[in-house]
Amino acid sequence: MTHRFLISEPETNYASYSEFGTIESSFPLKRKNEKDCWEKNYLENYYDEVLNVTGCQRVNQRITQCLDPTVQRVHIPGCGSKPHLQRYLIENFPNLDKVICTDWSETALTLARRSFDHPKLVYQQADTSQLNPDDGPCDCVIVVNSILSASDILNRQMIRACHRVLKQGGLFIGLFPDVLCSVELSSISSELSELLDGTIDVGKNMVYERRQGMNQIFYTPLRLKQIFIEAGFEIKFDHIQRIAFDSPFFQGEYLRLYGLQDPDLCIWENIVEVKKS
Ligand SMILES: C[S@@+](CC[C@H](N)C(=O)[O-])C[C@H]1O[C@@H](n2cnc3c(N)ncnc32)[C@H](O)[C@@H]1O
Repeated sequence: MTHRFLISEPETNYASYSEFGTIESSFPLKRKNEKDCWEKNYLENYYDEVLNVTGCQRVNQRITQCLDPTVQRVHIPGCGSKPHLQRYLIENFPNLDKVICTDWSETALTLARRSFDHPKLVYQQADTSQLNPDDGPCDCVIVVNSILSASDILNRQMIRACHRVLKQGGLFIGLFPDVLCSVELSSISSELSELLDGTIDVGKNMVYERRQGMNQIFYTPLRLKQIFIEAGFEIKFDHIQRIAFDSPFFQGEYLRLYGLQDPDLCIWENIVEVKKS
């Protein structure tokens, strides 16, 4: 597999992906193992101190706007602890037969199951990069901010796995944070500049998430496009759009989480909508 525009050197050993070797000198703090880091975050604060974009119905509407109403099987890798999207899918897509929700954090899955369970939902522990269409390929894969490892290689493995589990003609929908949004916000907002100060490495698309204690890669659109091509998708630049989190729901969240009161500022991300050909 030829990697184009690789951010970090290819790791020879899969197990070493979580050693954040690539830009460790840039940021003050790092933890060795991302999976443990996620577990710790979920155990400590139930993910309540982090923006959860699917808490906004408008976002769920936007995410699913290209989804065929007859869709039967959806996979949500890295589903996390807040099952808003699952609930939205079950309520709005009556032909759904199965929604497979995977995450490598048992704690996240336990929290999600506890707040919303349904006969059509399957919660399973799985590393996204290892997914296989064991029990039948999916009509749609929906990724919401769950492919943002500090390891470029792991992210690429995850996107390849998403391609693997999709049936021919199946739809990939994904939300991806963009480092350029962090750059913008840190330069415009005094509240956020403090939070983001010294945490952004633009060239490597890397952001140090202070609250979560993790380095994360927030890809820029051209990089995303290359990575999707590499994974086997026939993606055009038009398949990558911008989604803005600017509803009243988010204004409340920005105030609660960041003390941010400016109604003209919002976080935006890239939304990828592409079919497996
Ligand atoms: C930022 S949270 C987003 C959670 C959820 N999608 C949401 O929107 O609230 C990222 C999630 O991805 C999961 N995750 C990250 N890398 C993963 C991997 N390689 N395999 C499985 N889950 C992963 C984390 O455990 C975490 O639950």
